[in-house]
Amino acid sequence: MKKLKNDQILRTRFPERLCHWMIVLCFFLAATSGLSWFFPTFSWLSAFLGTPQMARALHPFLGIAVFVGLCYMFVRFVKYNLPAKTDAIWFRNVKGVVLNNHEHPLRIGKYNAGQKVLFWLIMASIIVLMISGLIMWRAYFAEFFPIPVLRLAILAHSVAGIGLILLILGHIYLAIWVRGSVTGMVTGYVSKAWARQHHDRWAEELEAKKAAKGRGEA
Ligand code: HEM
Repeated sequence: MKKLKNDQILRTRFPERLCHWMIVLCFFLAATSGLSWFFPTFSWLSAFLGTPQMARALHPFLGIAVFVGLCYMFVRFVKYNLPAKTDAIWFRNVKGVVLNNHEHPLRIGKYNAGQKVLFWLIMASIIVLMISGLIMWRAYFAEFFPIPVLRLAILAHSVAGIGLILLILGHIYLAIWVRGSVTGMVTGYVSKAWARQHHDRWAEELEAKKAAKGRGEA
Protein backbone atom coordinates (compact mmCIF):
# COMPACT_ATOMS: atom_id res chain seq x y z
CA MET A 1 0.00 0.00 0.00
CA LYS A 2 1.21 3.51 -0.88
CA LYS A 3 2.54 5.32 2.20
CA LEU A 4 0.76 8.59 2.87
CA LYS A 5 2.90 11.70 2.87
CA ASN A 6 2.70 13.84 6.01
CA ASP A 7 1.07 16.75 4.22
CA GLN A 8 -1.90 14.76 2.90
CA ILE A 9 -5.42 15.19 4.25
CA LEU A 10 -8.51 13.10 3.73
CA ARG A 11 -11.04 14.89 1.53
CA THR A 12 -13.45 12.17 0.40
CA ARG A 13 -14.00 8.82 2.12
CA PHE A 14 -13.98 5.47 0.30
CA PRO A 15 -17.78 4.80 0.29
CA GLU A 16 -18.40 8.30 -1.14
CA ARG A 17 -15.69 7.85 -3.80
CA LEU A 18 -17.01 4.43 -4.74
CA CYS A 19 -20.52 5.85 -5.01
CA HIS A 20 -19.27 8.80 -7.11
CA TRP A 21 -17.49 6.57 -9.63
CA MET A 22 -20.42 4.11 -9.81
CA ILE A 23 -22.63 7.12 -10.60
CA VAL A 24 -20.16 8.19 -13.31
CA LEU A 25 -20.37 4.76 -14.99
CA CYS A 26 -24.17 4.50 -14.76
CA PHE A 27 -24.64 8.13 -15.80
CA PHE A 28 -22.42 7.66 -18.85
CA LEU A 29 -24.46 4.62 -19.98
CA ALA A 30 -27.83 6.25 -19.19
CA ALA A 31 -26.87 9.54 -20.88
CA THR A 32 -25.46 7.93 -24.04
CA SER A 33 -28.47 5.62 -24.44
CA GLY A 34 -30.82 8.56 -23.83
CA LEU A 35 -29.02 10.72 -26.39
CA SER A 36 -29.15 7.86 -28.91
CA TRP A 37 -32.95 8.35 -29.13
CA PHE A 38 -32.78 12.12 -29.19
CA PHE A 39 -31.18 12.76 -32.59
CA PRO A 40 -30.87 10.16 -35.39
CA THR A 41 -27.19 11.13 -35.79
CA PHE A 42 -26.59 9.93 -32.20
CA SER A 43 -28.17 6.49 -32.70
CA TRP A 44 -24.75 4.79 -32.61
CA LEU A 45 -24.44 5.80 -28.93
CA SER A 46 -26.75 2.93 -27.91
CA ALA A 47 -23.88 0.58 -28.87
CA PHE A 48 -22.31 1.15 -25.43
CA LEU A 49 -25.05 -1.12 -24.07
CA GLY A 50 -24.76 -3.68 -26.85
CA THR A 51 -27.91 -3.30 -28.93
CA PRO A 52 -30.68 -0.66 -29.18
CA GLN A 53 -33.07 -3.17 -27.53
CA MET A 54 -30.67 -3.65 -24.62
CA ALA A 55 -30.29 0.14 -24.30
CA ARG A 56 -34.09 0.51 -24.23
CA ALA A 57 -34.43 -2.10 -21.47
CA LEU A 58 -31.49 -0.97 -19.31
CA HIS A 59 -31.80 2.85 -19.56
CA PRO A 60 -34.49 3.17 -16.82
CA PHE A 61 -32.59 0.91 -14.41
CA LEU A 62 -29.35 2.85 -14.98
CA GLY A 63 -31.30 6.04 -14.28
CA ILE A 64 -32.58 4.57 -11.02
CA ALA A 65 -29.01 3.60 -10.07
CA VAL A 66 -27.87 7.22 -10.65
CA PHE A 67 -30.81 8.45 -8.57
CA VAL A 68 -30.04 6.09 -5.67
CA GLY A 69 -26.33 7.01 -5.80
CA LEU A 70 -27.15 10.71 -5.77
CA CYS A 71 -29.52 10.20 -2.82
CA TYR A 72 -26.55 8.76 -0.89
CA MET A 73 -24.29 11.66 -1.98
CA PHE A 74 -27.03 14.10 -0.97
CA VAL A 75 -27.21 12.66 2.53
CA ARG A 76 -23.40 12.63 2.90
CA PHE A 77 -22.66 16.05 1.34
CA VAL A 78 -25.68 18.28 1.91
CA LYS A 79 -24.20 19.78 5.09
CA TYR A 80 -21.19 21.08 3.11
CA ASN A 81 -23.41 22.55 0.38
CA LEU A 82 -25.71 24.70 2.48
CA PRO A 83 -25.42 28.42 1.75
CA ALA A 84 -22.88 30.29 3.92
CA LYS A 85 -22.39 34.05 4.37
CA THR A 86 -18.86 33.71 2.95
CA ASP A 87 -20.25 32.40 -0.39
CA ALA A 88 -20.86 36.06 -1.28
CA ILE A 89 -17.07 36.65 -1.26
CA TRP A 90 -16.60 33.87 -3.86
CA PHE A 91 -19.38 35.29 -6.06
CA ARG A 92 -17.92 38.83 -5.81
CA ASN A 93 -14.47 37.54 -6.80
CA VAL A 94 -15.52 34.99 -9.41
CA LYS A 95 -13.51 36.75 -12.13
CA GLY A 96 -10.37 36.60 -9.97
CA VAL A 97 -11.07 32.92 -9.24
CA VAL A 98 -11.23 32.16 -12.97
CA LEU A 99 -8.07 34.18 -13.68
CA ASN A 100 -6.42 32.73 -10.55
CA ASN A 101 -5.50 36.18 -9.26
CA HIS A 102 -7.70 37.21 -6.36
CA GLU A 103 -6.28 39.35 -3.56
CA HIS A 104 -8.37 38.58 -0.49
CA PRO A 105 -8.78 35.19 1.14
CA LEU A 106 -12.06 33.80 -0.21
CA ARG A 107 -13.04 31.99 3.03
CA ILE A 108 -14.12 28.88 1.11
CA GLY A 109 -15.45 25.94 3.08
CA LYS A 110 -15.32 22.32 1.92
CA TYR A 111 -17.00 23.28 -1.37
CA ASN A 112 -17.02 26.67 -3.06
CA ALA A 113 -20.17 28.59 -3.98
CA GLY A 114 -19.99 27.43 -7.61
CA GLN A 115 -19.78 23.79 -6.53
CA LYS A 116 -22.74 24.35 -4.23
CA VAL A 117 -24.86 25.77 -7.06
CA LEU A 118 -23.89 22.80 -9.22
CA PHE A 119 -24.73 20.38 -6.38
CA TRP A 120 -28.28 21.75 -6.06
CA LEU A 121 -28.82 21.87 -9.84
CA ILE A 122 -27.69 18.22 -10.14
CA MET A 123 -30.09 17.24 -7.34
CA ALA A 124 -32.99 19.20 -8.88
CA SER A 125 -32.36 17.66 -12.33
CA ILE A 126 -32.25 14.08 -11.03
CA ILE A 127 -35.56 14.57 -9.18
CA VAL A 128 -37.25 15.84 -12.36
CA LEU A 129 -35.66 12.98 -14.37
CA MET A 130 -36.77 10.37 -11.84
CA ILE A 131 -40.41 11.53 -11.57
CA SER A 132 -40.87 12.12 -15.32
CA GLY A 133 -39.01 8.87 -16.11
CA LEU A 134 -41.32 6.82 -13.92
CA ILE A 135 -44.42 8.41 -15.48
CA MET A 136 -43.24 7.64 -19.03
CA TRP A 137 -41.89 4.12 -18.24
CA ARG A 138 -43.99 2.15 -20.69
CA ALA A 139 -43.28 -1.29 -19.20
CA TYR A 140 -44.78 -0.47 -15.81
CA PHE A 141 -46.42 2.91 -15.28
CA ALA A 142 -47.19 4.85 -18.50
CA GLU A 143 -50.62 3.24 -18.93
CA PHE A 144 -51.83 4.84 -15.68
CA PHE A 145 -51.40 8.39 -17.03
CA PRO A 146 -53.39 10.36 -19.63
CA ILE A 147 -51.63 11.35 -22.89
CA PRO A 148 -51.16 15.09 -21.98
CA VAL A 149 -49.38 14.07 -18.75
CA LEU A 150 -47.15 11.67 -20.71
CA ARG A 151 -46.31 14.45 -23.20
CA LEU A 152 -45.39 16.80 -20.36
CA ALA A 153 -43.29 14.08 -18.72
CA ILE A 154 -41.40 13.44 -21.99
CA LEU A 155 -40.71 17.17 -22.38
CA ALA A 156 -39.54 17.52 -18.75
CA HIS A 157 -37.38 14.38 -19.07
CA SER A 158 -35.70 15.70 -22.24
CA VAL A 159 -35.04 19.19 -20.84
CA ALA A 160 -33.72 17.86 -17.50
CA GLY A 161 -31.65 15.19 -19.29
CA ILE A 162 -29.93 17.65 -21.65
CA GLY A 163 -29.55 20.09 -18.74
CA LEU A 164 -27.88 17.49 -16.53
CA ILE A 165 -25.53 16.38 -19.34
CA LEU A 166 -24.44 20.03 -19.83
CA LEU A 167 -23.99 20.49 -16.07
CA ILE A 168 -21.86 17.35 -15.87
CA LEU A 169 -19.72 18.47 -18.83
CA GLY A 170 -19.07 21.71 -16.90
CA HIS A 171 -18.39 19.70 -13.73
CA ILE A 172 -15.82 17.51 -15.54
CA TYR A 173 -14.13 20.56 -17.11
CA LEU A 174 -13.80 22.30 -13.73
CA ALA A 175 -12.66 19.09 -11.98
CA ILE A 176 -9.81 18.76 -14.52
CA TRP A 177 -9.10 22.52 -14.44
CA VAL A 178 -8.49 22.54 -10.66
CA ARG A 179 -5.38 20.38 -10.60
CA GLY A 180 -5.34 17.79 -7.83
CA SER A 181 -9.11 17.56 -7.41
CA VAL A 182 -9.60 14.45 -9.59
CA THR A 183 -6.70 12.79 -7.71
CA GLY A 184 -8.59 13.69 -4.53
CA MET A 185 -11.70 11.91 -5.83
CA VAL A 186 -9.60 8.86 -6.85
CA THR A 187 -7.32 8.43 -3.82
CA GLY A 188 -9.41 10.33 -1.29
CA TYR A 189 -6.47 12.57 -0.35
CA VAL A 190 -5.34 16.10 -1.21
CA SER A 191 -2.28 18.02 -0.06
CA LYS A 192 -2.52 20.66 2.67
CA ALA A 193 -1.27 23.22 0.15
CA TRP A 194 -4.14 22.31 -2.21
CA ALA A 195 -6.65 22.64 0.63
CA ARG A 196 -5.25 26.04 1.68
CA GLN A 197 -5.24 27.31 -1.92
CA HIS A 198 -8.74 26.17 -2.92
CA HIS A 199 -10.66 25.75 0.35
CA ASP A 200 -8.93 28.02 2.89
CA ARG A 201 -11.68 28.03 5.56
CA TRP A 202 -12.05 24.23 5.35
CA ALA A 203 -8.25 23.81 5.77
CA GLU A 204 -8.24 26.13 8.80
CA GLU A 205 -11.18 24.31 10.37
CA LEU A 206 -9.38 20.97 9.98
CA GLU A 207 -6.20 22.41 11.52
CA ALA A 208 -8.20 23.85 14.43
CA LYS A 209 -9.96 20.50 14.97
CA LYS A 210 -6.60 18.69 14.94
CA ALA A 211 -5.11 21.19 17.41
CA ALA A 212 -8.14 20.82 19.73
CA LYS A 213 -7.78 17.03 19.55
CA GLY A 214 -4.09 17.38 20.42
CA ARG A 215 -5.07 19.40 23.51
CA GLY A 216 -7.64 16.73 24.37
CA GLU A 217 -10.60 19.11 23.85
CA ALA A 218 -12.30 17.18 21.03
C1 HEM B 1 -15.72 11.81 -15.56
C2 HEM B 1 -16.68 12.38 -14.87
C3 HEM B 1 -16.52 13.06 -13.54
C4 HEM B 1 -15.40 13.57 -12.94
C5 HEM B 1 -13.97 13.61 -13.47
C6 HEM B 1 -15.81 14.09 -11.65
C7 HEM B 1 -14.96 14.66 -10.71
C8 HEM B 1 -15.34 15.07 -9.45
C9 HEM B 1 -14.42 15.57 -8.45
C10 HEM B 1 -12.93 15.72 -8.63
C11 HEM B 1 -15.15 15.85 -7.35
C12 HEM B 1 -14.61 16.40 -6.01
C13 HEM B 1 -14.48 17.91 -6.04
C14 HEM B 1 -13.76 18.41 -4.81
O1 HEM B 1 -13.23 17.62 -4.03
O2 HEM B 1 -13.72 19.66 -4.62
C15 HEM B 1 -16.53 15.57 -7.64
C16 HEM B 1 -17.58 15.75 -6.76
C17 HEM B 1 -18.89 15.50 -7.07
N1 HEM B 1 -19.36 14.95 -8.24
FE1 HEM B 1 -18.27 14.42 -9.88
N2 HEM B 1 -17.16 13.92 -11.51
C18 HEM B 1 -17.64 13.29 -12.64
C19 HEM B 1 -18.94 12.94 -12.90
C20 HEM B 1 -20.00 13.16 -12.06
C21 HEM B 1 -21.36 12.81 -12.34
C22 HEM B 1 -21.83 12.09 -13.62
C23 HEM B 1 -22.12 13.20 -11.28
C24 HEM B 1 -23.60 13.11 -11.04
C25 HEM B 1 -24.51 12.87 -11.95
C26 HEM B 1 -21.21 13.82 -10.32
C27 HEM B 1 -21.59 14.35 -9.12
C28 HEM B 1 -20.74 14.85 -8.16
C29 HEM B 1 -21.17 15.38 -6.88
C30 HEM B 1 -22.63 15.46 -6.37
C31 HEM B 1 -20.02 15.78 -6.20
C32 HEM B 1 -19.93 16.42 -4.79
C33 HEM B 1 -19.82 17.93 -4.97
C34 HEM B 1 -20.44 18.70 -3.86
O3 HEM B 1 -20.83 18.12 -2.85
O4 HEM B 1 -20.56 19.96 -4.02
N3 HEM B 1 -19.94 13.78 -10.83
N4 HEM B 1 -16.61 15.08 -8.92
